Amino acid sequence: MADKVRFGLIGCGLISDFHGKAINASRGGVLVAAADMRAERAEACVQKYGGRAMTIDELLASPDIDVINVCTPNAYHGEYVIKAAEAGKHVLVEKPPELTLEKVDAMIAACQKAGVKLGVVLNVRTRTAIQAIKKAIDEGRFGKILAADAYMKWYRSTEYYFMDDWRSSRAAGAGVIIQHAFHYFDLLQYLAGPVEKVMAKTLNLAHPQVQLEDTAAAFFTYKSGAFGLLQASTALYPGTDIRIEINGENGTAIMVGERIDTWKFKEERPEDAEIRKIGSAAQATAAGGAADFGVEEHTRIINDMIEAVREDREPFVSAASARHTLAIALAMYESADNGGREVTVAE
Ligand SMILES: NC(=O)c1ccc[n+]([C@@H]2O[C@H](COP(=O)([O-])OP(=O)(O)OC[C@H]3O[C@@H](n4cnc5c(N)ncnc54)[C@H](O)[C@@H]3O)[C@@H](O)[C@H]2O)c1
Repeated sequence: MADKVRFGLIGCGLISDFHGKAINASRGGVLVAAADMRAERAEACVQKYGGRAMTIDELLASPDIDVINVCTPNAYHGEYVIKAAEAGKHVLVEKPPELTLEKVDAMIAACQKAGVKLGVVLNVRTRTAIQAIKKAIDEGRFGKILAADAYMKWYRSTEYYFMDDWRSSRAAGAGVIIQHAFHYFDLLQYLAGPVEKVMAKTLNLAHPQVQLEDTAAAFFTYKSGAFGLLQASTALYPGTDIRIEINGENGTAIMVGERIDTWKFKEERPEDAEIRKIGSAAQATAAGGAADFGVEEHTRIINDMIEAVREDREPFVSAASARHTLAIALAMYESADNGGREVTVAE
């Protein structure tokens, strides 16, 4: 392998800017190519971040690429992940990994067969506040987790839904559950463990021109016996910071935006004063706009992929762990489509 880990991007829309910036800010990554079905977008991407614009077939066949980042709309992830694996490239795919568990299984199988890595961009898992909570959970500071909740009260304008065709189509993988809230119930399962059962309701509160849910509420029963609530919306102007709440028998942590808002345990530790300072109220976390967040988390994901390739280990967010988040999303849709009845999350 070359000195640098060489990246190629497929899909040069909104999120490709984050990948381009993150690769340039990474330790040891370089962007060598970008492709899009709209050639002018690939050209604009390489003008900004370096490398060569190619067709998708050229990019897949290029011997000078180690990792392909799949940044296409949600319904076109599997196709490119499998083609990249068959071409012998490692793959980093944006969230959600795909729209069905069968497709995710096919992606995992293709990458295993080819002996390449498959990482998923669930960048919020790398947030400093989330890592502090995860560490405290792993150290047993919470005791038994009793509740794990997420409140995503965001706003997206009607124009947002019509910016690109796929953003207003459930078949293409749009909707508040699978497109926006995905990161946050992913955090819940990452922190509190697998979800066993879901009851959900969906609504369209503020986007009558769009045939999609812009709001969802769900009740989760975790396998551990803990319970959780999810409230997620893109209807609530102007959009406020994401809120994640973890309650255990021995303590509570609440993250608001990227900030630790509450950090209280029966047994105080010396590091707690520093942990309470994590995050800044000024950092935007996408509450009011689709590109309204920092590039640090994508940079951590790119750095991790570089290390995973070099050290021949699993990426930080494995496809298997992201698969469970998709299973939760699908259970929410099934429940909401069936009057809110309780649905068991698929294994
Ligand atoms: N991790 C995050 O925080 C985050 C944030 C936003 C979006 N995303 C994800 O990134 C992905 C892309 O979202 P986006 O907002 O950049 O979308 P976008 O519509 O802005 O960009 C997608 C690009 O893919 C191209 N494209 C569409 N269909 C294609 C195909 N079949 N083959 C090749 N190129 C194709 C389009 O021309 C477009 O340039 C989605 O999976 C989305 O969920 C992740």
